[in-house]
Amino acid sequence: MTHTIGAPAERREGREKVGGTARYAAEFPLPGRAQAWPVPAAVARGRVSGIDPAAALAVPGVLDVLTHENAPRLAEPDDATLAVLQSPRVPHRGWFVALVVAETLEAARAGAAAVRVEYEAEQHDVVLGTSHPGLYVPEEANAGQPAVREQGDADGAFEDSAARVDVVYRVPPLHNHPMEPHASTARWEDGRLLVHTSSQGAHTVRAVLAGLFELPEESIVVTAEHVGGGFGSKGTPRPDVVLAAMAARHTGRPVTVAFPRRCLPAVVGHRAPTLHRLRLGADADGRLSSLTHEVTTHTSRIKEFVEQAAVPARVMYAAPHRRTLHRVAALDVPSPSWMRAPGEAPGMYALESAVDELADELGMDPIELRVRNEPDVEPDSGRPFSSRHLVECLREGARRFGWDGRDPRPRSRREGPLLLGTGVAAATYPVMVGASTAEARALPDGTFLVRIDATDIGTGARTVLAQVGADALEVPLERVRIEVGSTDLPSAPLAGGSSGTASWGWAVHEACSRLARRLAGHSGPLPERGIEVHADTAGTADAESQWARHAFGAHFAEVTVDTVSGEVRVARLLGVYAAGRILNARTARSQFVGGMTMGLGMALTEGSTMDAAFGDFVESDLASYHVPVHADVAEIEAHWLDEDDPRLNPMGSKGIGEIGIVGTAAAIGNAVHHATGVRFRELPLTPDRVL
Ligand code: MOS
Repeated sequence: MTHTIGAPAERREGREKVGGTARYAAEFPLPGRAQAWPVPAAVARGRVSGIDPAAALAVPGVLDVLTHENAPRLAEPDDATLAVLQSPRVPHRGWFVALVVAETLEAARAGAAAVRVEYEAEQHDVVLGTSHPGLYVPEEANAGQPAVREQGDADGAFEDSAARVDVVYRVPPLHNHPMEPHASTARWEDGRLLVHTSSQGAHTVRAVLAGLFELPEESIVVTAEHVGGGFGSKGTPRPDVVLAAMAARHTGRPVTVAFPRRCLPAVVGHRAPTLHRLRLGADADGRLSSLTHEVTTHTSRIKEFVEQAAVPARVMYAAPHRRTLHRVAALDVPSPSWMRAPGEAPGMYALESAVDELADELGMDPIELRVRNEPDVEPDSGRPFSSRHLVECLREGARRFGWDGRDPRPRSRREGPLLLGTGVAAATYPVMVGASTAEARALPDGTFLVRIDATDIGTGARTVLAQVGADALEVPLERVRIEVGSTDLPSAPLAGGSSGTASWGWAVHEACSRLARRLAGHSGPLPERGIEVHADTAGTADAESQWARHAFGAHFAEVTVDTVSGEVRVARLLGVYAAGRILNARTARSQFVGGMTMGLGMALTEGSTMDAAFGDFVESDLASYHVPVHADVAEIEAHWLDEDDPRLNPMGSKGIGEIGIVGTAAAIGNAVHHATGVRFRELPLTPDRVL
């Protein structure tokens, strides 16, 4: 029988996207549709004391100006970032104080520039430091993680250690910047709210809109058919969808709100800056006795989000004495949120850099040091791992990369003005999964239809879910059609936490397996409407596991450092992953390579500066916030082990969307140290820092 799982099937929507016929949220040309443009606050703290829309209303084509004085009232949201145009309060610079609705985008933009806003500004406080008086230890960090964990006597054991590393690393604020900025088109029809939005989860958006507008969920339809990336910034509804629904109600027209990219850093979340203090103590053979990872970060005044960057230190290495801790200060800054591998990405940058420093201190190979500190069980929880093949990833990566024979001495390779170096770092990402529903229908023409509100944010979710369905049905892939991306479909969790495929795939597998059994017992032609099976994995997929479940990987980098310009270039990047069963070799490779590319950006070019005077991020567009381009990405390889873990889900898969960014920046930083002999402990490694 056909086994389509694992095959490098092409994306089903690939042609539509490349040909330009795929519709994104701002591209639904409904009759009478109006466009809108937001007005961001020009102070970092204070209140709007006066707002004059007259000049904006005089712009030809402008239909109306929404402000806190006339905008529809919303029920109080759980997520305070969605309480837009509800009060004159300005919690941070860039917060929206008005929305101009017009016949055309140009008119809306001109109108937004003409709105006069007066503020009562207050002193703002936007600069994070480890001695900020507002720092506190929160109850929890992101993802429900305890803020503090302690075992043994980390300080005492550190003092008694033969080899010690006590270092501070810094990661700046980072921005998701998906290719498609956040956008929504909304209209009201007979009391029903119909929305196209760019989101990682339509059902999540619907639930939030139902609360805000006090409607039953059945009165709202949200579709997110094609989504041009999100990286976590579209994991929760953003103000675009709320503003579009408000403006559509207020004007009686369909309204599109597509955020200008320059607005994104202030209103769709960011990776908060993190200051890391790491203390590693080991014996002369490199066995860790003490491991401390303390993280200091910021959140906004209106929402507590704590980047859980010390969490991977609870998973990675055996050490009897350990402390992991998060501290946060609420500043007058935009609200931080999820960005690809929240916690793991900055945390593993710092931890894996410090491990490299320890290897240096000990005169040990950094791979051997990691192997020596492999834990038997998850260090923090004591739970056994469902599978852990980190050592195999390191060994396989070393073989493919050509690690053996490396001269460990820093500054030992030179070609003209270039210094060359290589580095390694480990990667990890937790296995998450949520309950989902799905429907599978067998049709009389021999085809099958799978329906589920999964979201394809550019990952190939449609394709891989069709593969899971075809595999369970034991039919060729072409006979399985799939519909995703709408609340009209069976409910499913969002695309986030690298859990989408596991969560949705489990329900699709369940529906299709049961349908196959039904068909096996069926004789004669199918009824005209076919035979349909509904599956719900609640209570199964989301059950607590006795196992510690994580994906692991190893990243290797080769860099050149120009001694004249200070420019670092990555000549080679190579990743090897142990992430369970790989369900589609083509789309998985893209995910890994995409993650590594984003890690390359984190290492070399990405970063925001908090402007202390204005109280906002300086780099707010792609001309100043530099994501990697093709010329930055010379050679990237992604490989994986055939990992067989029966303790995950029926497909045997772990998540793959985020692990590629984890540890990549450390591998590059470690390579820069190997090249130059200098430890740079603050990202990004731009020429001004390196020279
Ligand atoms: Mo991802 S940051 O969990 O969308």
